[in-house]
Amino acid sequence: ENTNDLYDLLEQVATYYERCLRTQETGKKAVNYLKSRGINDELAKAFMLGYAPDEWQALANRFDQKPLIQTGMLIDKEGRAYDRFRGRIMYPIRDKRGRVVGFGGRVLDDSLPKYLNSPETAIFHKGKEVHGLFELLRNNGKPKRILIVEGYMDVIALAGRGIHYAVATLGTATSQTHLDLLFRFSAELVFCFDGDNAGREAAWRAMEPAFSALKDGRQVRIMLLPQQHDPDSLVHEEGMDKFEERIRQSQPLSDYFFSALSSGLNLNEMEARSQLVNKATPYLEKLTQGVFRDMMFAKLNELTRSNRLDVSGKSTRLPQKP
Ligand code: CTP
Ligand code: MN
Ligand code: MN
Ligand code: MN
Ligand code: MN
Repeated sequence: ENTNDLYDLLEQVATYYERCLRTQETGKKAVNYLKSRGINDELAKAFMLGYAPDEWQALANRFDQKPLIQTGMLIDKEGRAYDRFRGRIMYPIRDKRGRVVGFGGRVLDDSLPKYLNSPETAIFHKGKEVHGLFELLRNNGKPKRILIVEGYMDVIALAGRGIHYAVATLGTATSQTHLDLLFRFSAELVFCFDGDNAGREAAWRAMEPAFSALKDGRQVRIMLLPQQHDPDSLVHEEGMDKFEERIRQSQPLSDYFFSALSSGLNLNEMEARSQLVNKATPYLEKLTQGVFRDMMFAKLNELTRSNRLDVSGKSTRLPQKP
């Protein structure tokens, strides 16, 4: 198959799901669900939201099966193919040019799994795509900053409250490829993960790709949300102005990094200081040469009262004779 045909097919599928949301009797439940989450018609249109009917063969009966299987929309089990997404709100994932490359689908209740996503296919790579980038660029091609959030609903809720500069990774860890992509459009990326432990761990895990992607002229900031909130719930509770105030109060990566690594360490003790050197150095070594890298090493030296490391991380001082 020509991959162009796959893009065309997913565009048609997205349009079909939109129609199911708007016209089918069964779409009503989905519309009510979206309304209950503060998503109006305009917002649903902007993100091309749809509904996958609760049927085994809705797509299978309407489109060619082979390309449906290639795009992961059909699951082919022993020659009998059935729809992957059934009875779910559908979030198309568009690449930066606006082509639909995959979908996320959410149940309307508490059943599990809450989300299903398209599998990796010839046109969909989770480590490379983010949800909301096309919509963001359509709104403003040169945003001052881009927020990186966890969820589809976070991106949409923020846009609904006037914050049109958020994107979501697709249920995967933030990768250096994601960050390099986003840095092409903005010099400032703000990590804004959920306030729960999983979100806090995700922020820390994003440090390695962040250090790899950073260079002079680029910056990363970290926004820690209250424990019980994600960006969706928080922007609904507080509104845009307070949320943007929180963005302004976010921590620069340098502060976040050193305070996260030194928490629980008593830096009056040499043992703790040497531990900090050992933990921080592998990250700092990922930084591209430049002023920022030099300053991060200088900061590490200051915190650990160590002058053994020069700014390039190499040991230069010869041992002093006693
Ligand atoms: N996710 C996933 N599969 C799951 C759970 C989560 O792919 N079973 C991804 C989705 O992209 C989801 C994101 O991880 O949007 C964040 O998960 P979570 O915080 O649990 O969901 P929310 O986005 O907050 O969704 P909602 O508000 O609708 O509950
Ligand atoms: Mn490819
Ligand atoms: Mn979560
Ligand atoms: Mn969440
Ligand atoms: Mn949520």
